[in-house]
Amino acid sequence: MIINNIKVRNFRCIHNAELEFNKNLNIVVGNNGQGKTSLLESIYLLAFTKSHKTNFEREVIMTGCDFTKVNAAVDFSETKKDYSIVLTKKTKKTKINDIEQKKLSEYIGKINVIMFSPEDLRIIKGDPNIKRKFIDLELGQTSPIYIFNLLMYKKILKQRNELLKKIQKNEIDDYILLDVITEQLSQYASKIVAEREIFIETVNSIINSIHRSLTKDLEKIRIEYKKTYKDDLFEELKNKYKYDILVGSTSMGPHRDDLVIYLNDEDISIYGSQGQQRTAVLSIKLSLIEFVKSKINEYPVLLLDDVFSELDSTRLESLIEYIKRNIQTFITTTDISFINDELREKANFYYVEKGNIR
Ligand SMILES: Nc1ncnc2c1ncn2[C@@H]1O[C@H](COP(=O)(O)OP(=O)(O)O)[C@@H](O)[C@H]1O
Ligand SMILES: [Mg+2]
Repeated sequence: MIINNIKVRNFRCIHNAELEFNKNLNIVVGNNGQGKTSLLESIYLLAFTKSHKTNFEREVIMTGCDFTKVNAAVDFSETKKDYSIVLTKKTKKTKINDIEQKKLSEYIGKINVIMFSPEDLRIIKGDPNIKRKFIDLELGQTSPIYIFNLLMYKKILKQRNELLKKIQKNEIDDYILLDVITEQLSQYASKIVAEREIFIETVNSIINSIHRSLTKDLEKIRIEYKKTYKDDLFEELKNKYKYDILVGSTSMGPHRDDLVIYLNDEDISIYGSQGQQRTAVLSIKLSLIEFVKSKINEYPVLLLDDVFSELDSTRLESLIEYIKRNIQTFITTTDISFINDELREKANFYYVEKGNIR
């Protein structure tokens, strides 16, 4: 898919920008703090209705303004569509072709975006919670049913935890209800975990050839999904009722599962250098491009924030080799000296200064 043009209003330091994009490469240039990341973040918001930097979307509304609006025309292989999002401090409204989309779960994933940003190191070093969010986001963008199952799971999990607390305080003594809820929870859990495992398997089947071409050596990378239970969540939770009641929460399930990334069979979060970790994240992100393509038969848009300040020249060359493929790519950088003539010819350049983009 290709984002043809965009309009950004009151988004962080960008007051008003109207841009036409190149279908291959778009290079966003400027000093620090001028609004390069903000432009990418506005595309991310349009795709996911969320920010990749903050859990509080309203922070992206320009200080002193009541709303922010982003809209864009997107070309798919068969159709074209207009997308828009308007955020106020309290509301979020999305439209496709001027028709309001009441359910966010039906809007998210229509524009597919893979973003690589400095924050992404958290996929490797962060809490399990952050790793799960990563899976949920990337998987959710190609699978509405996954988003639905996840919403149901969270709802039932909340009910279960409330019930556990009530039993703990002797307000209720209803073990039959606890059985029922645990059974329901386990059913959604198995759907979620099955889809997560297929997702990780697919990424594993792609990632090594990408990683090798990025590193030009034979590091072997592998992602492992770590479940908090063995096979039968229902049976295993039943055996832990006493404990769960004592702590007032559900001790196992996809809301507790984790992700470990291995480089040559060693946990990269412990043994990997900063450079190896960054490259691993980049390999994961590039693999996701192929994952999205395999699911929806369209290439997603690639957003690369500040990659060039982070990679050495070999990795840089390989990355540039990779993005020569026909995947619409946005790159931010403070320094354009790394860009060779061949890429320059393909690219549009955008110069950003104090939120003004030309
Ligand atoms: N809600 C906001 N309203 C106005 N300005 C903001 C808001 N949030 C961030 N900024 C400003 O916008 C700029 C953000 O720049 P950023 O896109 O991160 O720059 P770059 O990526 O070019 O270094 C910073 O100068 C920051 O102070
Ligand atoms: Mg930036």
